[in-house]
Amino acid sequence: MAENSDLIIPRHIAIIMDGNGRWAKKRTLPRTMGHKKGAKVFTEIARNCKELGVEYLTVYAFSTENWKRPQKEVDEIMNLLRNYLLDIKENVKEEGKINFIGDITPLNNDLKSLILECEEKTSKFTDFTVNIALNYGGRDELVHAVKKIGEKIKEGEISPEDINEKTISNYIYTSGMPDPDLLIRPGGEKRISNFLLWQNAYAEMVFTDVLWPDFDKKCLLDAVKIYSERNRRYGGI
Ligand code: IPE
Ligand code: IPE
Ligand code: MG
Repeated sequence: MAENSDLIIPRHIAIIMDGNGRWAKKRTLPRTMGHKKGAKVFTEIARNCKELGVEYLTVYAFSTENWKRPQKEVDEIMNLLRNYLLDIKENVKEEGKINFIGDITPLNNDLKSLILECEEKTSKFTDFTVNIALNYGGRDELVHAVKKIGEKIKEGEISPEDINEKTISNYIYTSGMPDPDLLIRPGGEKRISNFLLWQNAYAEMVFTDVLWPDFDKKCLLDAVKIYSERNRRYGGI
């Protein structure tokens, strides 16, 4: 793509897909319509990322804190996800490997089996991975990792003095994947909202006021352009 020749393409992009509710409110529509448009935008942006040569895309779909919302809204978000997965299940396209991060244990059994089925069906598409963060919280992820490491210590497989940063990286949901290079948050808020706390240690962050349902390929390219112009020092000079 000639238009993108001066861009440095991040290997891993993470996105906090925020602003669906406000997008709907501006149009005097129910919040759920914002989520519906947001889901469409997600499939489009995933395709754009793949075309750009991004290897990993991690999207925040539902946080451990989002259960505080009205049950009707939670149900609607889960339904949109179900429809997305049913579509993948029926027409598996070579678009990418779907991988869920987060604690899926409290979800309905039908949704859980659909998740596992889609992960299984797309597992061969290793060029591009889409991580969907569902019932995901960065702190919750670390609690789970510490528990698992604790069990390994109890079983005598790990000794506490051998624990290092690599050990933690191996026990979190993104084990084996590179950390995000670029974190994009549309929707106007400038916070991380418990997303990828460990992994974002050195991510470049781009915040934009564009609401997620209005986010498009141009917004993605703008963020990648900003990223390309950043100087990543990692503490060096
Ligand atoms: C993000 O949009 C979607 C989820 C958190 C599930 P919001 O629903 O948070 O939209 P705003 O922030 O209220 O506009
Ligand atoms: C973060 O958005 C979670 C997702 C986009 C899934 P929120 O709308 O939940 O974040 P806060 O509440 O504004 O921090
Ligand atoms: Mg929000």
